[in-house]
Amino acid sequence: MRVVSGIQPTGNLHLGNYLGAIRNWVKMQDQGECLFFLADLHAISQPHVPAELTANTREMAAALIACGIDTDKSVLFNQTQVPAHSQMQWLLNGTARMGWLNRMTQWKDKAGKNREGASVALFTYPVLQAADVLLYQATHVPVGEDQKQHLELARDIAQKFNNDFGNGEAIFTLPEPIIPPEAARIMSLRDGTAKMSKSDPSDMSRINLTDDADTIMQKIRKAKTDPEPLPSEKDGLAGRPEAENLVGIYAALEGSNVDKVLAQFGGQGFGTFKPALGELMVSSLAPIAERFNALRQDVAAIDAALRKGATKAGALAAPTLDRTYAAMGLLR
Ligand code: TRP
Repeated sequence: MRVVSGIQPTGNLHLGNYLGAIRNWVKMQDQGECLFFLADLHAISQPHVPAELTANTREMAAALIACGIDTDKSVLFNQTQVPAHSQMQWLLNGTARMGWLNRMTQWKDKAGKNREGASVALFTYPVLQAADVLLYQATHVPVGEDQKQHLELARDIAQKFNNDFGNGEAIFTLPEPIIPPEAARIMSLRDGTAKMSKSDPSDMSRINLTDDADTIMQKIRKAKTDPEPLPSEKDGLAGRPEAENLVGIYAALEGSNVDKVLAQFGGQGFGTFKPALGELMVSSLAPIAERFNALRQDVAAIDAALRKGATKAGALAAPTLDRTYAAMGLLR
């Protein structure tokens, strides 16, 4: 099992980033050989501020390590430092079809009505994503639901390339997506219908990975709820988005599920549930915040970790890149 996944570097990391993607990666480290990278090349498909991209790349690397990505066990790097990603993308651009890319819902959403003004990188973004995983013969790719279509495209590209250039052999492995069952959708603490987001103007809406214990307890105490006690069954959460969110967060942090949490807290009010949630959150996040706050100051350590990962990744990518050039008849 070879696991490969990427995440776009963003700043202001919060509980949603942790429970949505990062924690899932941490768990995968025990299940197979893992490569995790910061998709900094994907980040330039939309307007960006260069200095922020650099800072966010380091910030995200520090967060991943603080959350438990072990750079001795897994390969952690940023795309830019492994040129094979860009090279492979160009090679796959010959296989990907305009029609396939035109059907990508993320392209349609992000380009909106102004397709003529969108960057070419936004359009070919899924080809780079295919290169990211095919380069390493990934067997499994943990992603959120929104990336499933891009993974299917990677399989289509792999299959067509194998047919066109493989001479009866498979150059690329067809990767399987892994969509975590408890793909925790963490919502705002102020509005249970909006995703927890770094761009929400209210800091009370989210738990940052840098928040200390007092801040976390206060944010949970002030989190929006309704006056009813918690139900004992899942159905009872229907139409109560804030209650559902807090119970979901509890379940995700505890590594259990909503039914179990409701079996424990059903019939009790938020006066009981909120302190329990706050304490669970503090005990789960405090060690992460401590490591994160220390590591994010240490630019040299972060850069060294990324360089080490890039060297390992480049070596793992080389054989497939060589075979791909050769299969296409490109003289090197
Ligand atoms: N596009 C992914 C996202 O925005 C990030 C990503 C880039 C990725 N390359 C990848 C995920 C390869 C999985 C595999 O979430």
